[in-house]
Amino acid sequence: MLNPEISLNRRIVDRIATSRLLEPISNALQPVVQKALAAGGPAVRNALHGTWLGHPLHAVLTDIPVGAWTVTAVLDTLELFGVERYADGADAALAIGLAGVAGAAASGYADWSDTANEPKTLGTAHAMLNGGAAIAYAGSLVLRRTGRRRLGIAAAAGGYALMSFAAFLGGELSMGMQIGAKHTAEPLFPDADFKPVLDDDALANGTMKRVDLDGVGVLLFRDGDGIRAIGNACTHRGAPLDEGTIEGTCVRCPWHDSLLSFDDGRPLEGPASFPQPLFETRVVAGKIEVRPAVLR
Ligand code: FES
Repeated sequence: MLNPEISLNRRIVDRIATSRLLEPISNALQPVVQKALAAGGPAVRNALHGTWLGHPLHAVLTDIPVGAWTVTAVLDTLELFGVERYADGADAALAIGLAGVAGAAASGYADWSDTANEPKTLGTAHAMLNGGAAIAYAGSLVLRRTGRRRLGIAAAAGGYALMSFAAFLGGELSMGMQIGAKHTAEPLFPDADFKPVLDDDALANGTMKRVDLDGVGVLLFRDGDGIRAIGNACTHRGAPLDEGTIEGTCVRCPWHDSLLSFDDGRPLEGPASFPQPLFETRVVAGKIEVRPAVLR
């Protein structure tokens, strides 16, 4: 039951995110996307999630259609007010936006592929609206090229409205529902002193253990003489990495299989794109001590 006191935009988002109508579409589409990603292998997953970039790729690529189609909207408006010398620029920007749609859509579907419940449903609406916008812009280009310019401008205006609403939902997905956001508690004092967290003999060689440093989960890993430490919450969706599996000097996330390096915290395989927080370790008087690593 929706609370009538919450704002209209909140109610719209909640209504869409809990829509029963979108559920069958989400349920039919997601396995197809997951299969396609699995067929592409880790290289395709890493490329689309932005693992290679250290940042979600979708957030970067969406700027192409959004920016280009905003240029089209401005130049179309000028044209409607009689300034026609930028008409070619409007059409070129429209085509650039269309060219950017494939990358934005592919990276978005990849990020959406492991969502569930409300984010999954809202993501479906986001994708459908953007798909509608792309169709409207493609139609606009055809209309412009076939001499029906005013109709083409109207189609582009419709596309811009759809894209804007989709962007609003995209903001909710990334900021509100944290799809693509970094899921990890950063230590408050990155230059804090070392603190004892575990007896040295409680961490056997080749094993990992979760410890607590001022309320922040830290994952220790002993490899020969060295002890390495990264944040225990996976940056992708916050999975407890101590429940994952060790692979060489990496840990495999238990939820979505990201492979995270103990050496520098970087994801070697996605869907994670942000690196894990790093910690320095030392052993003093039989105790393992940890402090947040200072980034240089
Ligand atoms: S929580 Fe998704 S890969 Fe770790």
